[in-house]
Amino acid sequence: MRWRDALTVDDFRQMARARMPKMVFDYIDGGVEDEFALAANIEAFRRKAFVPRYLVNVEHRNHRTSLFGRTYDRSFGISPTGFASLFRPGADLMLARAAAKARIPFVLSGASNISVETVAKAAPGYVWFQVYGARDRKITRDLLKRATGAGVETLVVTVDVPVTPKRTRNIRNGFGLPPRMSLSTVLQALLHPGWTARYLLNGGLPKLGNWQPYAPQGASALEIARVFACETPNPTQSLEDIATIRESWKGTLLVKGILHPDDAVEMMKLGADGIWVSNHGGRQLDRIVPSIDALPAIRQAVGGEATLVIDSGIRRGADIAVARCLGADFAFIGRVTLFGVAACGEAGATRVIELLTEELDLVMGQIGCCDVNRLGPVDLGLSVQ
Ligand SMILES: Cc1cc2nc3c(=O)[nH]c(=O)nc-3n(C[C@H](O)[C@H](O)[C@H](O)COP(=O)(O)O)c2cc1C
Repeated sequence: MRWRDALTVDDFRQMARARMPKMVFDYIDGGVEDEFALAANIEAFRRKAFVPRYLVNVEHRNHRTSLFGRTYDRSFGISPTGFASLFRPGADLMLARAAAKARIPFVLSGASNISVETVAKAAPGYVWFQVYGARDRKITRDLLKRATGAGVETLVVTVDVPVTPKRTRNIRNGFGLPPRMSLSTVLQALLHPGWTARYLLNGGLPKLGNWQPYAPQGASALEIARVFACETPNPTQSLEDIATIRESWKGTLLVKGILHPDDAVEMMKLGADGIWVSNHGGRQLDRIVPSIDALPAIRQAVGGEATLVIDSGIRRGADIAVARCLGADFAFIGRVTLFGVAACGEAGATRVIELLTEELDLVMGQIGCCDVNRLGPVDLGLSVQ
């Protein structure tokens, strides 16, 4: 299939699957253990249905959404995803540019291959930065300093990775540091010559751009990745770390990976500017509540004024409408733009953003909603069951 013929984001998933070795595709596509959480995230969205209102003038529909003092053209942005150059060299930059073109935020992962300095420069005003707290707190402090220096205004601290998860697909495929070479790995590389040529021409395993300064000088990509793997996850991370980060980070602070209402309240008390309701796309804990199901209780706990964003399981524009109806101020997408960029670079990511926007726009028209900011459980008579 050519990317211009794609009608759904799932078409991009199929294209990505066809164009990458299984080990790499599975790293994006997979979840933890039995992948119950991965499936449950998608199912939880599909269980929600609208009760539409008709005879409402829906000729003009607004998607612009304000968040932390900025106005974005859509009600969604791109979640942080690490190791993206493995899917396509330069993917971090492609995603950032696609986001800036669509005027939506792009969250650069702390485990990105391209450094925060480079990516922030490529899409000024649209790049947020995500960190995992490192065991060596000096590294976290330095990352924050570098993000500020790069002009980043919004920091996302991910807290739902206290321990390394067991992602069965990755283990079976030999996806690790270093990747296990087997007959099947070689065969997969030969069967996907485009991916393999790009990988080899870009020097093989991509470096973790943000982590280079914390590895010995001249360290290889593998050695840098090992430093990262020793420093994160940090199982000793606690509320005190969030308080320390809050003290040193002068910009907007979001805490990502919150599912319990009490944790959300605690984060707001510590001075977070927003809560990112997420279960990491079903990649961490398999028996976990879908974030869309956790959202209403969190909204109730933090009140109407607090900013809540959500990800995990969004595959259709309708899912973004559901998220807004159930109390999210903004939604984020993880895998779908990765499939776009993996399948065909920046154009693929751009088309995925467009497809979701078109779908959301049609849902709004169909349910009698002229402004995405008015979606709510009762507003305009919209409701999800
Ligand atoms: C390949 C991949 C890498 C990821 N890397 C990170 C990361 O570095 N930091 C982070 O906070 N979340 C990471 N995530 C989780 C995403 O930010 C997001 O929470 C998740 O993908 C949302 O679910 P969805 O893929 O169903 O949209 C990653 C997800 C994927 C698929």
